[in-house]
Formats: sequence, structure tokens, C-alpha cells
Amino acid sequence: MIDRSTIDRIYAAANIVEVVSDFVTLKKKGVNYQACCPFHNEKTPSFVVSPTKGLFKCFGCGKGGNAVTFVMEHENLGYVDALKYVAKKYNIEIQERELSPEEVRRNDDRESMMVVTSYAADYFVDALHNTQEGVSVGIGYFRERGFSDATIRKFGLGFCPSPSDAFSRKALASGYKEEFLVGTGLTIKRETGGYYDRFSGRVIFPIHSVSGRVIAFGGRTLRKDKNVAKYLNSPESEIYHKSDVLYGLYHAKKAITQEDYCILVEGYTDVISMHQSGVENVVASSGTSLTEGQIRLISRFTKNVTVIYDGDSAGIKASLRGIDMILRAGLNVRVVLMPDGEDPDSFARSHSASDVKAYIRGHEEDFISFKTRLLLSDAESDPIKRAGLITDIVQSIAEIPDPITRSVYIKECAKTTDTDAQLLTREVARKRMSHHPDKEAGEFIRRYGQRQAAEVAENAAPESPVSLKPCTAGSSGEELERELTKYLLKYGDQDFEYKEGREMVTLNVAEVIISELTSNGIAFRNAAYKAIYDEYAAAYNAGTPISVHHFINLPDPALSSAVVDILTCDDNYVPSKLWKKHDISVDSEADRLSAAVPRAIILYKSKAIEGIIADLQRRLCSEGLDDEQVLALTTQISALNKERMSIAKKLSRLIL
Ligand code: CTP
Ligand code: MN
Repeated sequence: MIDRSTIDRIYAAANIVEVVSDFVTLKKKGVNYQACCPFHNEKTPSFVVSPTKGLFKCFGCGKGGNAVTFVMEHENLGYVDALKYVAKKYNIEIQERELSPEEVRRNDDRESMMVVTSYAADYFVDALHNTQEGVSVGIGYFRERGFSDATIRKFGLGFCPSPSDAFSRKALASGYKEEFLVGTGLTIKRETGGYYDRFSGRVIFPIHSVSGRVIAFGGRTLRKDKNVAKYLNSPESEIYHKSDVLYGLYHAKKAITQEDYCILVEGYTDVISMHQSGVENVVASSGTSLTEGQIRLISRFTKNVTVIYDGDSAGIKASLRGIDMILRAGLNVRVVLMPDGEDPDSFARSHSASDVKAYIRGHEEDFISFKTRLLLSDAESDPIKRAGLITDIVQSIAEIPDPITRSVYIKECAKTTDTDAQLLTREVARKRMSHHPDKEAGEFIRRYGQRQAAEVAENAAPESPVSLKPCTAGSSGEELERELTKYLLKYGDQDFEYKEGREMVTLNVAEVIISELTSNGIAFRNAAYKAIYDEYAAAYNAGTPISVHHFINLPDPALSSAVVDILTCDDNYVPSKLWKKHDISVDSEADRLSAAVPRAIILYKSKAIEGIIADLQRRLCSEGLDDEQVLALTTQISALNKERMSIAKKLSRLIL
């Protein structure tokens, strides 16, 4: 951290006119300065800087602040980084908190790696322009692709010349350490001794961090040989976390902020060609499918994303899930299909900027209707497929955080799929009420649940113990099982009102509990509650009328006494400890159900996941696991932990 006195010195030194002038051309007007606002698109200047007051203010978009907040906004930096920027400008040395030796080493390593990548970037650019091979092969290739000189310079494109260890030798001879050359993946050590360059013979696309430092490279082969990978990328390292990087963002961020939207394409060449044609708000997730980190990155700059697919892209369906993630982040997603046989690269090359922009504007479709149309054409008149499709779309809609947007989509989806809107609203409400795990984690929890259920069934002694003590509904797994069983027995046939967006929907207690537990494959662990639940669910699913007497008179004495205990224990429904703790008063029985049932379900699911995590961790500690098994276990644990955290978030929303 930066200490207080240094911060004061930075503020004292910062001259707002000088700082803003680094990014915006200011015109003097009286005592103030004026410009067109860098934060929104405008033709007449409404952005004013006052040197005497030390502030800037845009009277068009309302943004305003001091020199440091200007740098934060304009460069999308955090507070500390913005302070550092200003400090550097005024040569103020920063006193930071003492770092631990480990932190110092890591920082030094990171810095050393950045120095190496920056050296390499310069080397590749030099080789492209100033060696015979670079010019004939590299420049030749880029020309053929239609990249102009300005474009090649702007994106720092380069070439890695022969022989195959030319770069590594030069770097070592210039004093760069082998450790960092290997660590950044630029150099590979041969087992037989010697080195070779990862990108040898390839044209180079440097990958920049948001603030413009080169952190990695992509290299494209120029050979036609099908056995050679077309693109090679730097490996993951201390400075390059692939999943947190978007190619082109450094060059696109200004345009993204100004136009308030971001175009997402597939790769390097798409980004570069679009730029060259004059469309600059473009980034690529290069190679990988979109990650949450990349989505977070985009959402720092805009809430509007347009995803461009090739006309004949086979990958569209596979990428639909990634888009659900964008929806969950609260971004507005639109989709554009390129004409058949074109990708953004080829299209941008053969069209002007205004044509490209017009094409995008004219073919944008919001994601939900795009997905509906896509799946609908697939399902045609197959009723099972249609049902699956509706579940799928309901899932997407349920991801959208804004209730008004959800209800708009529900109405539209009802229309296009010719489904009852009220029914869709109910489905969306159910999905949102309880947490629905991400597909992969969900699948895992389900499989695990089945195995567990089998174990419980196998080990269940007929007189398995039932705790008769708790009249309070607590939050241990067993107490929650008891609470859920109680809702079934006492209130199973009742409905409760639940708010979805601006509408209230009616949900049935038994239906909600049973469908939630079934869809997640979670089975009760307590044998008695499980037996009661199974009996109830079987009758419910068969549509047979359910009478509480049937349960009171179950032949197994352990079960019937558990039932009686549940039914008589708290006639007035004792609010759980959790409710008391948060001092929430609930009045009518219906109100109580609409809050208590979802709470109990979510809490129970969260417990179930915790149980699985604990189990996996135990397994992780056991001996004799090979690397692959350890990796599999840790991946599963981290996926489940993520689910648990998002459940916790939901739970706090529900309670507070
Ligand atoms: N891409 C990648 N890895 C691959 C293939 C493609 O990262 N193995 C990315 C690249 O960023 C590339 C984009 O996807 O810019 C488009 O792929 P493609 O058209 O296959 O690459 P081009 O270099 O345009 O090849 P071609 O000249 O054959 O079209
Ligand atoms: Mn291509």
C-alpha cells in the first residue's frame, strides 16, 4: 500500500491540465480548458477542465472528478495504479508497505518476465522489418493478408527468424536469464542440450495486457503442412493467465468505452482486420471459449456485447453456454451471423468500415431470440425436443439479473415458442428461487447423489436412529432434512406465492421440493427421513391422493414415530434459528412458506455440496493417488466450491 503522506504529495503535484492533456487535446477557453468528452461520443465539446479548482467535468455525460480519478476512468485503472501513474509522471517515489521476501521474489520474477517479453517483442518486430527473411517471408505474408504497414506497426506484429535457436541465443548473449526465457515459454530447452525458439519460423502476434505491456505471444506458421499447428501460443505463466486476457483489449478499450459496446470475435486476424477497416471496439477470446474472468474484464468497460459468429460456424451450439455466463454477469448480449463462408476477417477486408458497421447493426439479434430460433429450427415438431428447448431457454432467461428484462424475454419467448407465458414465468421463478448449478457441477452432484443414495439404502438398518429432540429447525444437514420432511407432511398440498420480476406466481410446496431434490439427484442421508420422503415422492409422482394418516400409520415403528414427532412438535411452526438471528418476523402461514421453503431447499443443497466437498477432500488426503487423480479431485473441489459460493450469495439475497 502507498502511505498517506505519499498520496498527499501525489495530489499536490498533479496538475489536472497536464494529466488530462496526456489523453485529450484541450483548448483554452477563458480560465478553463475545453474538449470533446473522452467518455462519450459528442461533436460539440462539453468536457471542461478547471485548473484552478483541479477538476474535470463533462456537462454532457456527467462524469467528473480530479486528476487521479480521471486516470482511473480513462485508463480503467484501480485507485492505486492510478496514483502510481500520476506519481511516475511527477517523479514522486512511492513508499509502499514492506513486502515479504516471498512477495518481493514473485514481483521480481514477474517484472523479469515482463522485461523478457518486452525484449522479445522488440526483437520480433526488428526481425520482421530489418532482416531479409523477415521482409520476404513475414512482411510478404502480412501483405498477402491485406495488413497495411500502419496496422503491422500498431499491433506490433513480428517474425521469429531462423535458425531455430536464433532468438534464444541472442537473448542469452544480451544477458537475459535462461530461467525467464524458459518461464515465459519463449525458449524451450532441448533434452540433448541447446535451445530452440518456440515461435521459430512463425509470424508473431504479441498479446498485450490491459495497460499495454506485452505479456505473451501467438505465432502462426507459414507452412501449409497440416501436421504443424497453425497457431502456437505462449504457455500459462506468472504473467500470462490466458483466462483473464482478451486479445485486442488494449487497442480497443477506448472505442469500447466511447461506443459503449464491445464486439467479440474469434481470433487475432479478425480483430486486426476489423481495426484496419475502422471498427475498433473489437476483442477476441483467442482459441479458448469465453471465461468468467474475460467477461468481468469486458464489463469494466461496457455492459453491451455483440458476439460475431462465422456464417457456417459449427461451434455456435457449443458456445451457447458461454453466453449464458455473459447473461449472468448482467451484460446485454447480441449475436451477429456472418454471411455464409465469411469470417469477420474476410468480411472486414472486403468491406468499408461503414459497410461493416451497417452489417452488424442490420443483423444483430438479441441472444435469447437467437437461441430460441436456433433451437426451434432444430426441434421442429418433436415434442420431447421442444420441451428440452424450453427448459434450455428458461435457463438462459433465469440467468438475467434484471427482473424487467427477464419479464420482457419471457413474453417474447412465450410468443415465439407458442407456450403459456404464466407457465414460463413459473419455470423461471423456480429456477431462480433455488440455485441451479452450472451444468458440469450439476452433473457431478447428481452422479454423486445417486451413489450416496445407494449407500444409504444399503446401510440402512430398519431401526435407524431418528433424532427426536429438535423442535427447532436448525441448519445442520439432518435438521434440514427434518424441516423439508415437515413441509411435505404438513403443507405439501399447499401453495405459496412467489415473486418473479413484477409478477407473483403460485408454486406448490410438494412440487417445488420434490422437483428440486430430484433434478439435483440429492438424496436424504438420514434413513428415516429418506424413507418418508421416498414414500411421499412416489405417491406424489403417481398422482395418488396423499393422506397424513397413511404416514402416521406406517408399519415401521421408527418411521411412524418420526412422523408423529414431526407433526406434533411445533404446531405453531417454530422459526428457525437463522430467522431469529436475522430478526425477520413473518406472519401468515402462506408468507412463511414462501420464504421458508426456498430457504430450506437452498440451505440443504448447500449442505449437500459441502458434504461432497468434505468427502473429496478426505479422498485427496489419502495416499497413493497419481497426479491425474489429484488433478481430477482438485478440479472437482474447486467447481463445487464455486457452486457453494454462488449459493451463499443467493441465500444472503433471500434472507436480507
Ligand atoms: N485460431 C487459433 N488457433 C488455431 C486456429 C485459429 O487461435 N489453431 C484463431 C486465430 O486467432 C485466428 C482465428 O482463430 O486469428 C481465425 O482462424 P483461422 O481462420 O483458421 O486462421 P487464419 O490465420 O485466418 O488462417 P486462414 O488463412 O487459413 O484463414
Ligand atoms: Mn481465416
